[in-house]
Amino acid sequence: MAHKLCMIPGPVEFDSEVLQAMATPATSHVDPAFIEKFGSAIELTRKVFFAPTGQPFIIAGSGTLTWDATAANLVEPGDHVLVIVTGVFGDWFAECISVYGGKVDLLRAPFGDRPSLDQIEAALKQKPYKLVTVTHVDTSSGVLNNIEEICAIVKKVSPATLIALDGVCSVGAEAIRQDEWGIDVVMTGSQKALGVPPGLAVMVVSKRALEVALNRKSAPTTYFASFKKWLPIMQKYEARQASYFATPAVQLVLALQVSLSQLVAAQGSLDQRFAQHRAASAKVKDTLESWGLKIVPVARDRAANTLTAVYYPSGVTPAEFLGKVSGKGVLLAGGLHPEHAAKYFRVGHMNVSVVNDSMLGHLDVTLGAIKSALQECGFKL
Ligand SMILES: Cc1ncc(COP(=O)(O)O)c(C=O)c1O
Repeated sequence: MAHKLCMIPGPVEFDSEVLQAMATPATSHVDPAFIEKFGSAIELTRKVFFAPTGQPFIIAGSGTLTWDATAANLVEPGDHVLVIVTGVFGDWFAECISVYGGKVDLLRAPFGDRPSLDQIEAALKQKPYKLVTVTHVDTSSGVLNNIEEICAIVKKVSPATLIALDGVCSVGAEAIRQDEWGIDVVMTGSQKALGVPPGLAVMVVSKRALEVALNRKSAPTTYFASFKKWLPIMQKYEARQASYFATPAVQLVLALQVSLSQLVAAQGSLDQRFAQHRAASAKVKDTLESWGLKIVPVARDRAANTLTAVYYPSGVTPAEFLGKVSGKGVLLAGGLHPEHAAKYFRVGHMNVSVVNDSMLGHLDVTLGAIKSALQECGFKL
């Protein structure tokens, strides 16, 4: 298949070793060689999430399944949930929680911004929330939330409230220390900073949240995503024993195991990897701003390091610009937020496009394509 450089905010470009791990002959999900790799992937997930005491769940599905799993296992009908909204993924997570009977309050900021810590503190004082959810990086706005500070406020104001972090566009690239910061659920999908093809829902659940899920009054409102069903399966695979509840995505798990090994081992440490994403993000944003473009987040300290959301200059239209960039062999994403979609575009910078940039040159190729396309659209840099 003809390939254009995929610089959207997920799926991202894949490392060849990760892809090769999937090219296996038919493999049983209880083959000892697979059990070893699945067990290893579960252990590595704990490391990547900085969650030595957490329980990983790796289930066939996409990032959205981790929302369903969180809501269906932790929220009982009538429970109050506070959703901190910094883009449309917050709104959609809220919608998901409502489906399971949660009574949702939204705390939102204007597009491009995030609620202040004072606003979050005030909201938490309104009622006893069972759960607070926050999107680390909202992929629709490119806004980054300050998770460590938010967690500290929740612990101070409402220590019984569970904290769920949508890390779909951050895990593996933005700093997260799940245990240290006291996050109860951290969620992601395989196709973003983990650099694995789409198809795996990956999440780590704290002991405290697991107890809540296992001791809830009403039955979990999900069959496939039930923690009760998956917990023994995860435990067995980790103990290198065969197990079955629903067939795992064998080849994707093999790819995940390779990708997580790279994350943990390559270039020294995960902190170095986070620093590489900050540097790549600064390079993209500095370059675009030096041409006179304006990024969507209202300040750099609120801007994600995994993608850049940037406004079109006046006179440049999405169809013409994105078509021209694509013609130069680079795929970018248009705007996603329903109210603002036509005003901005998004550039993803995660995983190999960042950590192997000096070898692959993805960022320079992408910036070069953006520059030429803007000029062809009549914009004077
Ligand atoms: C922040 C965020 N949350 C959740 C999702 C949903 O993930 P998926 O598309 O893998 O279901 C996405 C997808 O882009 C996302 O960016």
